[in-house]
Amino acid sequence: MKAITVEPKKPGTARYEDFPEPDLQEGSVLVEAVAVGVCGTDVEIVEGKYGWAPPGKDRLVLGHESLGRVIDPGPGSSLKKGDLVVGIVRRPDPVPCPNCAVGEWDMCRNGQYTERGIKEIHGFMSERWRIEPEYAIKVDSSLGILGVLLEPTTVVTKAWAHVISVGVRAFWEPHTVLVTGAGPIGLLAALIGAQRGLDVHVLDRATTGAKPDIVRALGATYHSCSVSALGFEPDVIIECTGAGQVINESIQTISSGGIVCLTGVGHGGGSSKAATADVAAAAVLKNIVIIGSVNANKRHWYRAGKILARADRKWLGRLITRREKPENFKQALERQPDDLKVVIQFSET
Ligand code: BGC
Repeated sequence: MKAITVEPKKPGTARYEDFPEPDLQEGSVLVEAVAVGVCGTDVEIVEGKYGWAPPGKDRLVLGHESLGRVIDPGPGSSLKKGDLVVGIVRRPDPVPCPNCAVGEWDMCRNGQYTERGIKEIHGFMSERWRIEPEYAIKVDSSLGILGVLLEPTTVVTKAWAHVISVGVRAFWEPHTVLVTGAGPIGLLAALIGAQRGLDVHVLDRATTGAKPDIVRALGATYHSCSVSALGFEPDVIIECTGAGQVINESIQTISSGGIVCLTGVGHGGGSSKAATADVAAAAVLKNIVIIGSVNANKRHWYRAGKILARADRKWLGRLITRREKPENFKQALERQPDDLKVVIQFSET
């Protein structure tokens, strides 16, 4: 079969090539790939900045935002041939740490977790892939290609769940949420805010293109100014840019008792660093909580499925702005100005 593979930590090594059929050890469920979403993590892996091949191997099959059709459910699975499924990304560490032992692999304590298409296990950008039945999430067949949005939805579902756990530490009636960054993660975070009945604001640099309209279609308000120029103090900020300046301004602007949830992964930063003691002073004097959130466990996958099922299909469809063939994966990985979610399509739904 064909697969999109890369030699992690070596830029320029990605290729679409012949690759052995998936190993039975990867799971008893055999799946035909339908589509795989591309995200910033894939770009980082291809640029040689992130990613790990399976132990003893040089190359890693890329891709963690999957959607596939069951070819053979194998023994011991309630799945049926033809079901649409998405694969959970992370696997618990083998020790296991206390969090992995109770199924909270997203909170792994020792960093020895593995992730499909990212860390030590092959991903989903291959014509066929295998998965363990307990890590295959069946999606409503009426979602079709939109099922490929499940994995990014799980990431923000977890972020929201943690914001809420922190919020209820005191009397808490959140009204306004600011989402920084109107990429797929930001827009899905905004969708959850809208489903929760909050006054949702989304901030992004773009002044033209699809983003402002997609935000307004949610009933939310779009801003293209800086966070400090917003003129109000949000109760919750879901930060999805990873940009130093946006993070600093978010911490300065959040309301008293507010929560800033960081989901974006950036690097370095410009000259706008706020002094650590000033950030800490604001956090102390205003009871602010800053939380980081990565990945998702099974309860978030379950909830994310409900969130997608409740969402307007047409709105979700606007998030998928480009579909590329596997042989054109290089174009899929190159950002174009109007891109939201780009998917590599292996077969029809
Ligand atoms: C994936 C997560 C993963 C994280 C860190 C993200 O792009 O969506 O599942 O945990 O990267 O590797």
